[in-house]
Order: sequence, then C-alpha cells, then structure tokens
Amino acid sequence: MNTAPTTDILAEKEPDSENAIERVLVLEMVRVTEAAAVAAAQLIGRGDEKAADAAAVEAMRRAFDNLYMDGTVVIGEGERDEAPMLFIGEKVGMGKGPKIDIALDPLEGTTITAKAGPNALAVLAAAEEGDLLNAPDVYMDKLAVGPGLPADVIDLAKSPTENVQAVAAAKGKDPADINVCVLDRPRHADLIAELRSIGCGVFLIGDGDVAGVIAVTDQDTAIDMYMGQGGAPEGVLAAAALRCVGGQFNGRLVFRNDDEKARAAKWGIEDLDRIYKLHDLAKGDCIFAATGVTDGSLLEGVKTKRTATGAKIMYTESVVMRASSGTVRWIKGQHRIEPHRT
Ligand code: FBP
Repeated sequence: MNTAPTTDILAEKEPDSENAIERVLVLEMVRVTEAAAVAAAQLIGRGDEKAADAAAVEAMRRAFDNLYMDGTVVIGEGERDEAPMLFIGEKVGMGKGPKIDIALDPLEGTTITAKAGPNALAVLAAAEEGDLLNAPDVYMDKLAVGPGLPADVIDLAKSPTENVQAVAAAKGKDPADINVCVLDRPRHADLIAELRSIGCGVFLIGDGDVAGVIAVTDQDTAIDMYMGQGGAPEGVLAAAALRCVGGQFNGRLVFRNDDEKARAAKWGIEDLDRIYKLHDLAKGDCIFAATGVTDGSLLEGVKTKRTATGAKIMYTESVVMRASSGTVRWIKGQHRIEPHRT
C-alpha cells in the first residue's frame, strides 16, 4: 500500500454544502467560457455554424475538467442521444467538491459566428444543485426590464402596450420614448406592429437574445425593455445574469405541439401556462459568466494578433457575476497559442 503523503491538496477538502458556490472558485468559470470563445473565434465568418459550435463545445468540455466540483449539466447541448458532449445530465468537473448545476451555451449565436455578426457569446450559469430551472428546449416568451423599477412593474399576462405604459410611467417617460429590443423574426410581426403603433423604438436583433435581455440592464444601450420569444434555455441563462445585476424578468414556456408538451412533462413541468420570474428560473446564489466571441453590446469579441515567431495571441473580454454579492468582474485575457497548437 502506498503510504506516501498525498500531494493532492484538494483531497483533504471536505465539501462545504453551506457555501458551495464559494468553493467553485467564481473566477474559474471564466476560464471555461474563455476556452469556448477562443475555440469558436477561430471559425468566425467561415459560414460553418456546426463547426464553430463543435469547437466551442469541445473546448468548454475540456476546460471543465479542471474545476473542483461535482457538476451536472442541467441545460446543455441537448439530450444524451442527440449531443455527444455537454448533454443534459452529463457530469462535469473533477467529480469531487460541491454539487453544482450548470446551464451552458458554449456558443450562443452560432449563426452570428458563422456570418461574423455581433453579440455571439460563450456563456454559462452555475448554481447549487436544484437551483436552476431544467428548461426544456422549447421557446419562451420573455419580458425583461433593468434594475431600479418598482417590483412587478412588468407582467407577461398583460399586453405589450400595457407593459410599455407601466414601464414608461415608472420611468417618468412617455411610451413613445421607450425602446424595446426584439428578435427579428416573422413570429414577432404583430408584436413589432403593436409597439410601433404606440410610438416605441423597436431595436431588432438578428440573433443572441441572452445579450439582448442583458442589454436592458445597461444604461449605455438606451434599451428599456426586452420582449418576444426566444429559446427557453437562453431565458434561464439571461435570468441568472439579471439575478446578479438586478432587473426583472417574466418568462412563459411556449409549446407549439404535443411533442413539445410531452417534453415538458418529462422535465416535470405541470403548469404549462406558468409565468416564471427570476427566482423561479435561478434561485439561491448563482454565477453567470460570459466571454465575447464577436463584438457586442455586452462584451468585445475575441481579437487575434500574430507574434514574430508565428504564435497567435488571442485577446478575450469576459464578465463574471455573482448573485449573493452582486459583484461584477470584467476580465481581459491574453492567450498564447503556439503554431503547433493551432
Ligand atoms: P443559437 O446559438 O442556437 O443559434 O441561438 C441563437 C438564438 O438567437 C438565441 O439567442 C435565441 O434564444 C434563439 O436563437 C431564437 O431561436 P430562433 O432562431 O429559432 O428564433
């Protein structure tokens, strides 16, 4: 039997269920999103969504291996039979330490990346086991505003006009001065027409509603509200960010057919019309981390320079936030990639 003292300093640490998130090393989460962003960035503008996504997934999967946690993917690349890596239920991390649930999107904006458009991100949220909604991969109706407004100023049960009027009144503005961010999709034609009929500015985005929702929290964007249907998994990710920086969110799952309803049942969702608020989507303490892939409203995208010796230097910008402390850290990274590794 080997009786030599262990050199594994982590081996003696006991899981601390009181403060599990603390133990995950909040900053380490950024290494995971950085790895995915750097990998995806090498395929920006190459017209190949699948290759960019696969590169991000593989890099993120590998980066998780170094994290001291017993992690489980609760929102990921799909179900086990449809995703080779980072599928729902997959264990990630070192397999010891706190039990952490992870919602992730290694490349939020696959089309954006393929076309070199704005706002592609590598993104994840982490919380203690059971604290993130295990959202099925269906659409979600989303309604969001930034911080500093009266509680429950928005209500998805009301019309877009009523919500704009409530937010305008709370901000001391005219409804015609309210700007709303909406995904540019045919399914939003009525919503866009209604908003324009009351004079709102409608800021249309081609893709990437995680960044779109977070934009309501940023005074510099001039966006007051987010409205419309996007992916439910992206809704959970955006909600985790809003838990950290403030703001309000309403989300309601959208089921287009019986197959999607069956998927909800499998996920234990009984009330199909339920309106989820921030704490229903991400409760307890949680972390949100993102790295820009392409330039966007939240983060700068990855930039590449070559050294005289042919090595690539990849520059990243990331943000990591934590709900319990409200701390938001902006992190610039510089990653050297030697020629034989590219
Ligand atoms: P992908 O990264 O999977 O391409 O998602 C991009 C996105 O725009 C999300 O931000 C958004 O929630 C969803 O697609 C909207 O779905 P759809 O393109 O079907 O309208």
